[in-house]
Amino acid sequence: MCGIVGYIGPKEVVPLIVEGLRRLEYRGYDSAGIAVAGSAQNPSLLEVRRAPGKLGNLEKVLLERPLHGTYGIGHTRWATHGRPTEENAHPHRDSSGSLVVVHNGIVENYLLLKQQLMARGHRFASETDTEIIAHLIEDELEIARHNAADTNGTDATTTAANTAEAIVVSPPSSIPLEEAVRRAVKRLSGAFAIGVLSAREPDKLVAARSGPPAVIGIGEGEYFLASDVPGILHHTRDIVFLNDGEVAVLTRSGVLFTDFEGAPHQRTPQRITWDPIQAEKAGYKHFMLKEINEQPRAVRDTTLGRVSLDSGRVYLPDLHISQSFLQQAATMTIAACGTSWHAGLAGKFMIERLARLPVDVDYASEYRYRDPIPGALGLLITQSGETADTIAAQLEMISKGTPTLAICNVVGSAITRKAQGVITTNAGPEIGVASTKAFTAQLAALFTLALYLGQERGFVTETQSRHYVDELARIPQKLEDTLRSVDDQCAHLAKEFSTARDFLFLGRGIHYPIALEGALKLKEISYIHAEGYPAGEMKHGPNALIDETLPVACIATKDPADPASVLKYEKTLSNIQEVTARSGRVIAIATEGDTEIQQLVEHTIHIPAAPELLLPMLEVVPLQLLAYHIAVKRGCDVDQPRNLAKSVTVE
Ligand code: G6P
Repeated sequence: MCGIVGYIGPKEVVPLIVEGLRRLEYRGYDSAGIAVAGSAQNPSLLEVRRAPGKLGNLEKVLLERPLHGTYGIGHTRWATHGRPTEENAHPHRDSSGSLVVVHNGIVENYLLLKQQLMARGHRFASETDTEIIAHLIEDELEIARHNAADTNGTDATTTAANTAEAIVVSPPSSIPLEEAVRRAVKRLSGAFAIGVLSAREPDKLVAARSGPPAVIGIGEGEYFLASDVPGILHHTRDIVFLNDGEVAVLTRSGVLFTDFEGAPHQRTPQRITWDPIQAEKAGYKHFMLKEINEQPRAVRDTTLGRVSLDSGRVYLPDLHISQSFLQQAATMTIAACGTSWHAGLAGKFMIERLARLPVDVDYASEYRYRDPIPGALGLLITQSGETADTIAAQLEMISKGTPTLAICNVVGSAITRKAQGVITTNAGPEIGVASTKAFTAQLAALFTLALYLGQERGFVTETQSRHYVDELARIPQKLEDTLRSVDDQCAHLAKEFSTARDFLFLGRGIHYPIALEGALKLKEISYIHAEGYPAGEMKHGPNALIDETLPVACIATKDPADPASVLKYEKTLSNIQEVTARSGRVIAIATEGDTEIQQLVEHTIHIPAAPELLLPMLEVVPLQLLAYHIAVKRGCDVDQPRNLAKSVTVE
């Protein structure tokens, strides 16, 4: 989704903003732009450069027509209203051209506002909803100027429209820019994080938030605005997460926070401990590959300190839900999107098995269309904590009196701030658009939650707990082993299957969500059509697709100590035979030591043995690597697949 980086301070602003935008590339975008002011030659000149496509295109424009200044805002746009053209790229200007806005989110009432503004003489240059915001702020400045003129009996005429990229200063309004911003945003409905500059009020950058994230960085004599921490982390670790309904005014002497009414807010910066190196590729060809390889650490950090190997107890101090509620809860409802939804589906099997609590798993975007029965415990699963649909589901739950828990990778994000209890997945920043380490960390968090609920509700004995905790603690090492043993094989298989037109992924029970995740990974980054299916459903339709051209990845693992797991495995073997009988080309994901399955299928990838509820964390690794190598072979943009965004902050 869109990225914003703003700066005010002593430094030359263009390289700083472009570098910050590059660090936000993981959010996905299709055009970029920058507005700069405060040059030594002409401090009141505000200039804009924009370009469709990647940041490299904007850099070319900046080479041809350089900009200089010491404050400014930059933006990477992910198209929602209007195509990804230069005209639609941010920053957008008002009709006088002296005010610019960058925006992340969607203005829902933009058509109505556009009509009103056009009736008042405003003319628009783009198809975007964002341009409305620039005109609305201009409108508020005009209204204030007219009101003041009426009172003083003076001429209120403003300067003529200026359509050039370089903007000339005209007289200030009777209200400051931040007041006009506050008045304008109150007329918006929808979601926004905005940055605003005006040539009429030099040395000032105004930000406002309602929905999408915005952070303010506090440096020494310099101040930053960004849509996400990595955009400015290499300059400062002292961050204020702007709250919904807040405005920040950045000047050379500091930052002032208010609400939309102008009442001051006292905000103290939070020290962010992320290492900026963590957010870089660390020698890997792609962020995705680096993140796949970080999974042992992600799982270790997510479980560390939460489980006791001695007692088998699970400690979740930030849950903040009473034991009596947990004991009496009738159901749990999980809402999430994309990969996080797949984690939720796997979590259902863990929670139902260990805590005997019935679980519904909803797409967050569908949750509002239900009429849920009160008494449930809500659980939101989200890497970013900012996904608009998941926030909407959370608000719906809260409005129905359902207490919400969040499993989330971003501390301080919107969903964690609204949740009653939080389990953070300590996977570190995930940059690749296709989620990998956040997913395994979510599975680890779900397992600890299931075990905790099982203990609180009295369904897991101390011996069982110790066994599970012991096995959970072994998973990081097993992940290391899996990464080492399957990578070459996946690269080899990628050569064989990179030209496939379709792919099927099959699994039963808790392995079915992993089949879905394998299919999602492949389609996201390689653009091959892929479907995940419960293996038992094949005979009800998908069998018709099988021929000698169709690769079928089938999860056929087992925990020999668990009779239910063995039964599932045997049924899966029958499904595999149905595929091979129709000449389908099976790649089986099997448990180490399983030689039986090798007789049946063309390719077998072995993973270490583990209790069934923990196997998904291991099974997903070869599927991620298979998707990765196929995408590389096909020359796809692995980290930023077309049409996709890392953080989807629109509904
Ligand atoms: C986008 C991302 C996915 C992610 C989904 C949900 O579609 O590309 O990788 O799974 O959003 O995001 P969340 O941050 O809520 O987990």
